[in-house]
Amino acid sequence: MSSLPFDPRRSAPARRAAWRGSLISGLLVIAIVAWDRVAEPWFWAAALIAIVAGGWLASPRAESVLPHRDSGKDARHSLAEALLANIPDPVILIDRRALVIEANAAARALLPALRPRYPLSFALRDPAVLDGIETVLHSGEPLKTLYALRVPTERTFEVQIGTMQGAPATGGQPNLVLFLRDLTSAKRLETMRVDFVANASHELRTPLASLLGFIETLQGPARGDPVARDRFLAIMREQALRMTRLIDDLLSLSRIELHAHVPPTTVIDVGPLARQIVDSLTPLAGERGVTVTLETEPPPLAVRGDRDEILRLIEKLVENAVKYGGEGATVAVRVARAAPEGVRAPQIVIAVADDGPGIAPEHLPRLTERFYRVDPASSRQQGGTGLGLAIVKHILNRHRGRLSIESEPGQGSTFRAELPAVVGESLPVRALPPATQSA
Ligand SMILES: Nc1ncnc2c1ncn2[C@@H]1O[C@H](COP(=O)(O)OP(=O)(O)OP(=O)(O)O)[C@@H](O)[C@H]1O
Ligand SMILES: [Mg+2]
Repeated sequence: MSSLPFDPRRSAPARRAAWRGSLISGLLVIAIVAWDRVAEPWFWAAALIAIVAGGWLASPRAESVLPHRDSGKDARHSLAEALLANIPDPVILIDRRALVIEANAAARALLPALRPRYPLSFALRDPAVLDGIETVLHSGEPLKTLYALRVPTERTFEVQIGTMQGAPATGGQPNLVLFLRDLTSAKRLETMRVDFVANASHELRTPLASLLGFIETLQGPARGDPVARDRFLAIMREQALRMTRLIDDLLSLSRIELHAHVPPTTVIDVGPLARQIVDSLTPLAGERGVTVTLETEPPPLAVRGDRDEILRLIEKLVENAVKYGGEGATVAVRVARAAPEGVRAPQIVIAVADDGPGIAPEHLPRLTERFYRVDPASSRQQGGTGLGLAIVKHILNRHRGRLSIESEPGQGSTFRAELPAVVGESLPVRALPPATQSA
């Protein structure tokens, strides 16, 4: 971005160096002319070009206008430059006319239109930030404001604007420094927290309201009606159980999240766990006329995992297939090894397929969100809280696994949980209960 010596956009020291260069080359040319007494017009034209070129060559070429470079300050300058480059948040230095002096890599990535010596407003047109700059220029006091970005994605930044002592070469005029802090994920977390509390309260309030309603009816109009009392007590029991399930699921989610960063260490065989869940859900399947089949490859189907969490994962998937598969459905549970594709390690796959009504594609990406249900009324009727698949996702995250869902309306659904397989390690022998050991 170098320019002619008389370019007003250059800094004062750069202009001084340029004129010094011009003067030296001019004097050189005049000395040669005087010595040779050559006064041809072409020679004077060449002399003029030499003057301009001398100034251009003598001027400093660096773009950086971080505190003025002089020999004694080189080390400090490079330290400041390195610091600025390594700050992960965007930092922009501007002068009193809001022309950009320096911007670090994070700032240039965020605002690609930022150019040294060009107005900041070319790249950042936010009125709140530009007004903030004016205010800091007049008051000298630091200030914080918000900068909201709409494209390519919605992001919110906190912008701190402060003053910074300018270089002596620029008359010591203070420059302004803008620090941008990305608040996007903090805001998203806050929204999630608020939504979560609202959803959990709503889920608890519904059965509570129903319980209170039945209690009032039993205390009032149905006081002497034993048939109504038995019916209402059965419904009240259902509602109380639903609240218990919700609280259990909430506690289970927070427990899994608490250990999310601690990878499980024990090696377990998934086959027997699947058998245990299928057996325990047989009564529920029987009530609904659903047939559940289990197929497992020869043992061991070993993964490094938390036994209770893997049991819960299989339970949530099989229970969903039984609940939403519909009357007379068939649920096929299969535990198998998957041949590694590409660079992936061998996996153990737990696939739960049903031939039920299936799920419309628009719901698929949201199924693992907390409290998300395709049909909230029917899920509630089935005693669902909308936390099952969120728990599955969190368990898989902790186990470095992944969940895939294939479903089409009318074609049934297949939920596939993949966990990294443990190969070539023997399974620990489960300790027997103390009474049996002593026998
Ligand atoms: N096999 C399935 N077939 C059709 N829909 C399903 C199936 N599995 C899940 N769904 C849909 O996904 C939604 C979310 O499932 P999830 O297990 O997270 O919650 P839930 O079953 O409603 O409640 P919970 O599991 O906490 O008791 C369900 O409400 C249901 O609409
Ligand atoms: Mg469920």
